[in-house]
Amino acid sequence: MTVNLTPPTTTPADTDGHATAPGPEIPAPDSSVPAPSPTAEITAAGPATTPTASGRIEIRNLSAYYGDFRAVRDVTMTIPPHAVTAIIGPSGCGKSTFLRSLNRMHELTTGAHIEGELLLDGMNLYDPAVDPVQLRRVIGMVFQRPNPFPTMSIYDNVVAGLRLTGRPPKSALDETVERCLRSAALWGEVKDKLKQPGTSLSGGQQQRLCIARALAVRPEVLLMDEPASALDPVATLRVEELINELRAEYTIIIVTHNMQQASRVSDRTAFFNMGDDRAGYLVEMDATQKIFTNPSNTLTEDYVSGRFG
Ligand SMILES: Nc1ncnc2c1ncn2[C@@H]1O[C@H](COP(=O)(O)OP(=O)(O)OP(=O)(O)O)[C@@H](O)[C@H]1O
Ligand SMILES: [Mg+2]
Repeated sequence: MTVNLTPPTTTPADTDGHATAPGPEIPAPDSSVPAPSPTAEITAAGPATTPTASGRIEIRNLSAYYGDFRAVRDVTMTIPPHAVTAIIGPSGCGKSTFLRSLNRMHELTTGAHIEGELLLDGMNLYDPAVDPVQLRRVIGMVFQRPNPFPTMSIYDNVVAGLRLTGRPPKSALDETVERCLRSAALWGEVKDKLKQPGTSLSGGQQQRLCIARALAVRPEVLLMDEPASALDPVATLRVEELINELRAEYTIIIVTHNMQQASRVSDRTAFFNMGDDRAGYLVEMDATQKIFTNPSNTLTEDYVSGRFG
């Protein structure tokens, strides 16, 4: 078990969570030993509450604040493991804030805090024993704009997180690079030019490189904040196909403004709206097909049919 209670030393996100390098907040597992269950690694307080991690997230009465301003109000929902959950809703309703609360990136903003409870496989992620640095490895994040490290090669981008601590042998790094680039559906396109800069790739390839980089630290959950909104339709399709392939292994939560995308990639969809107090709240969450064809709430129907937002 990894015992590491060192707080993060950098602020990795801008206020929108965009264009953010993973930076030193992603710790490096020792890739020479088999990876234990991820949730077993995020506390220093003994074995994880649940011995076999599945990636199920329980959110109970979550509110998220910037100072006195409540941006997300009283959200209760369950995110099923190994499935894709889409978050939709009008601009400013707190989707990004909600997402960043899930891996404790929200608290990196000065004055920001949350209320409520967040459990991953039964473990309270805001428990003082939980190391947020380790947590952000278990719950990884992919941002709107592809953000490969500009000075690094494709290869070095993928293993950047692994190299932050420890010195994994080259064979382990090679294995990680190939495994993650294959998982990110990029291997075939880059295997002969791994030493070229990550920024030499197309936008869609860069986004898949960022997904490979997120996978390299063996996350359990992937948070994706509009991961395809800066991409052209072909690259968008590739990322959607990739999400479809990753759902078997990872719990995925994707924020998207694209209704077709939500209906194509997700199993369940949560609709957020903004209240009169400008706080975002959960209107309803259901099977994606139901949300888009026969939602329970008329607000949802109005939103998905383009009548507002
Ligand atoms: N760093 C911050 N400091 C203060 N308020 C913030 C900060 N970041 C976001 N907010 C506010 O929190 C609310 C929710 O913002 P958030 O970015 O989560 O919305 P969103 O649903 O992701 O919007 P969009 O669809 O445009 O990305 C907004 O009122 C926003 O102005
Ligand atoms: Mg947002």
